[in-house]
Amino acid sequence: MDDTSMEKEINTSAHADFDELGLDEWLVNQCKQMGLSKPTEIQQNCVPHILKGEDCIGCAKTGSGKTAAFALPILQKLSEDPYGIFALILTPTRELAFQICEQVSVLGKPVGARVTVITGGLDMMQQGLDLQVKPHIVISTPGRLADHLDSCDTFSLKKIKFLVLDEADRLIEDDYGEQLEAIFRVLPKKRQTLLFSATMTQTLQQLQEVALNKPFFWQQNYDVVTVEQLKQYYVLMSADVKDAYMMHLLDVYCTDHPKSSVMIFTSTCKYTQILGMVCQELGFDCVVLHSMIRQKERLASLAKFKSNQVKILIATDVASRGLDIPTVDLIINHNIPNKPKNYVHRVGRTARAGRGGMSISLVTQFDIKLVHAIEATVKTKMEEYPTKEKEVMKILTEVAVARREAEIKLDERDFGEQKEINKRKKLIQEGKNPDEEERKRKKMIKQKFRKHRANMAVQEERKIQKRDKILAKKKLRAKGKGKVT
Ligand SMILES: Nc1ncnc2c1ncn2[C@@H]1O[C@H](COP(=O)(O)OP(=O)(O)OP(=O)(O)O)[C@@H](O)[C@H]1O
Ligand SMILES: [Mg+2]
Repeated sequence: MDDTSMEKEINTSAHADFDELGLDEWLVNQCKQMGLSKPTEIQQNCVPHILKGEDCIGCAKTGSGKTAAFALPILQKLSEDPYGIFALILTPTRELAFQICEQVSVLGKPVGARVTVITGGLDMMQQGLDLQVKPHIVISTPGRLADHLDSCDTFSLKKIKFLVLDEADRLIEDDYGEQLEAIFRVLPKKRQTLLFSATMTQTLQQLQEVALNKPFFWQQNYDVVTVEQLKQYYVLMSADVKDAYMMHLLDVYCTDHPKSSVMIFTSTCKYTQILGMVCQELGFDCVVLHSMIRQKERLASLAKFKSNQVKILIATDVASRGLDIPTVDLIINHNIPNKPKNYVHRVGRTARAGRGGMSISLVTQFDIKLVHAIEATVKTKMEEYPTKEKEVMKILTEVAVARREAEIKLDERDFGEQKEINKRKKLIQEGKNPDEEERKRKKMIKQKFRKHRANMAVQEERKIQKRDKILAKKKLRAKGKGKVT
């Protein structure tokens, strides 16, 4: 589908108020109570269409108020005809589900909106009971909701009026396919589908299919994909001194900005854990967030960070989407994300709702291409951030020792083993034999490998044939000219 086939609208009423969007007085008052004085562009443009009953695809930069853009019209419609389950909101991560729950609950308080979160990592029995009492709005990650649909029939999604996919592009990417299918199968055809994200362009075709009726499409008009108030820097260094540079940057920034909070993004769960231990060892109080710690710990880490008890959060991309923590002033990319859009979401955790913010990406000799791809997507150039190499060299050994110690400690704890156990448990719950599944997996990998080798052999053979042909032709030509080759 090309963009022209959908209705596009650019902001035309920059000075509209919440009461001009067709919202009831109680909601307008509630917005004011929450400090939202004027609607943002996406709210101005999408709310009236959702209130009219249209499906909607909304794309606007990070921190631009997309949550309220779908929450406000849903709450208004709920107040007109309250029943459960009225709306289903899907998000890719558990922490984001809790955050949306908080926002929707506060906005919907005057009408007593009952909102429930259904995510993995928490008690399924309790969630089953929560669903049984018919909450008005269910906010869920796809995996756990699909599990509930599979295992109990004490609730129904057959009558929902609204389906929201927040971070829609992420949700429709491959890994959620099966679970989303299971959920879509039990949803009514007659519903309003609302899809929101800051990065939609590559997935518009699929999103159009999720919205059953021709959706109203609104995309913010911009040249640069990241927000204006964000200052984007990089520091170039050799890979083996990256940790020392990061600790140096952290030290300088935290000393100069004692009230600011910092989010550091890393590539893997294990590395997040190691970096957390290194930070603690060197005297930086921090919390970590990744998918290999228990959900209760994940939520506790985030609560400490959000409440300013701890000023540094080290996380994998599990924290890169949707989280709204106004005190975050600096994002450090300890690794450069493979996909440019992941960069957009990571750095979007700062400079939200008109505030300023800064990102520093640690770039090594291996990342140059990735950085160029990011700059091309975002349509802006990162500037070099000044650092003092001499200072970095002073802490090099200390950081390397702390890192080695952290690695040894983690190896002793068999980090990673729990994940393996959980995977086996899940397979057993699904009625599968984990050993058999592992055998199948290995067999599949072997087959793929064989196929790949066979393909390579064919290609190699073709290359040889082509080369031989060229040589033969050359020989013929040379013979014709009487040369000896
Ligand atoms: N009309 C408004 N006026 C002022 N602040 C607002 C308004 N609407 C929302 N906000 C605030 O802006 C912040 C960002 O909102 P929100 O989390 O909905 O952004 P988002 O567009 O969903 O970002 P992301 O793409 O990162 O998920 C929140 O703290 C929210 O309370
Ligand atoms: Mg959001």
